[in-house]
Amino acid sequence: MDKMMITGGRPLKGTVKVSGAKNAALPAIAACLLAPGKNILRNIPRLRDVDTIRKIMTQLGVEFTDHDGFIEVDAGTVKGYAAPYELVKTMRASILLLGPLLARSGRAKISLPGGCAIGERPVNLHLKALAAMGADLYLEHGYVNARSSGLKGTTIFFDIPTVTGTENIMMAAVTAHGNTIIKNAAKEPEIKDLAEMLRSMGAFIEGDGTDTISIQGTSGLKPAEHFVIPDRIEAGTFAIAAAMTGGDVTIEKCRPEHLTAVIEKVEASGAKVIQNEDSLSVKGPSTIESVDVKTMPFPGFPTDLQAQFMACMCIAKGWSMIRETIFENRFIHVSELKRMGAVIEINGNQALVKGQNQLQGAPVMATDLRASASLVLAGLVAGGTTEVHRIYHLDRGYEALEKKFAALGASIWREKV
Ligand code: EPU
Repeated sequence: MDKMMITGGRPLKGTVKVSGAKNAALPAIAACLLAPGKNILRNIPRLRDVDTIRKIMTQLGVEFTDHDGFIEVDAGTVKGYAAPYELVKTMRASILLLGPLLARSGRAKISLPGGCAIGERPVNLHLKALAAMGADLYLEHGYVNARSSGLKGTTIFFDIPTVTGTENIMMAAVTAHGNTIIKNAAKEPEIKDLAEMLRSMGAFIEGDGTDTISIQGTSGLKPAEHFVIPDRIEAGTFAIAAAMTGGDVTIEKCRPEHLTAVIEKVEASGAKVIQNEDSLSVKGPSTIESVDVKTMPFPGFPTDLQAQFMACMCIAKGWSMIRETIFENRFIHVSELKRMGAVIEINGNQALVKGQNQLQGAPVMATDLRASASLVLAGLVAGGTTEVHRIYHLDRGYEALEKKFAALGASIWREKV
């Protein structure tokens, strides 16, 4: 198991390129199941979660070939229909296979993702929507079993806008009989990206990016070529890091329009941000100002950057209030940040942060992907050396993070424990 070592105190300087978005790559790979033949996917990040979905789909008979700059996904023959516990337990997003497998094979057996560090994270809305489309679903021995002899379009209303739920239903609906309307759909850029991919496959989808998506089923899907959007969470992580280290960083290959709420908060913290079509420049202030943040579905401030922004607020001048409204337990980084000298008080879903002049390096434990990133950011500004343990969480969702930070001048390296 590796640990990340960081000696803090160096302002980040230079240029960094953002990788493809994990949360767009996973549904794009899953969507390849929908039609026989070879798909070409570009800008797929090298991540553990991507390896996991590839492993599951390989077991289903899908063939993956790596090329320079793209991967080929050949779903000519789909012979299996099960996603086993051993793999699903390492990545909840495996549930994304449910919709496309049902659509392609009329059968799916996916290990029910359990709770995870950040909350209970049920999939009841995915299951309810698929049942409304005519799927026969039952839970047995920890697995969701689903069968269908032909899904039917219908109107689905999500109580909560769910990102992977919306994606699952989009993938189930593109080959269903008739029209599906998803109301209170998620509006995240990853939804639009999946819709783009599905349209390239021949699907009829309208309204993606709004809260009502309508899909006209078709039997004529074919493989496609698709370029996955840049990772807005990775870009946001670099923007926050640049601000908090008082650095000067240009973040290339990103989409600033996906980061409006984040840019607004980074600017409010005192940083100077210049936006171009596909890049951002962030110049950090000499003193970070405190800023309140409330996580919201897109276009609000993303829950996936809450922990990183909290690390920034730990060294701000004054108090800030951080409210988490998406997941019920997404403050697990707080006790580790406190070990580095942060002063944070939690009350329900609110964290009151009292900024300190400086954090101190300490051994800390990563508990989930974004919490790990927040500890790395705290390490970049702490006095002395920080050791972040269990960084396999980071490898799930950040491509070569330490190499990218090191290229910006950070003193950061990986060690075997
Ligand atoms: N929810 C339900 N029932 C459901 C589905 C969701 O109650 O059937 C609730 C959840 O418990 C949560 C809220 O609805 O309170 C929103 O959850 P959502 O379903 O949107 O989350 P997700 O689809 O499981 C995706 C990302 C997460 C990101 C969230 C929110 C992927 C693969 N994962 O998860 O990414 O935090 O949307 O934006 O797209 C990460 O990358 O670190 C990560 C956790």
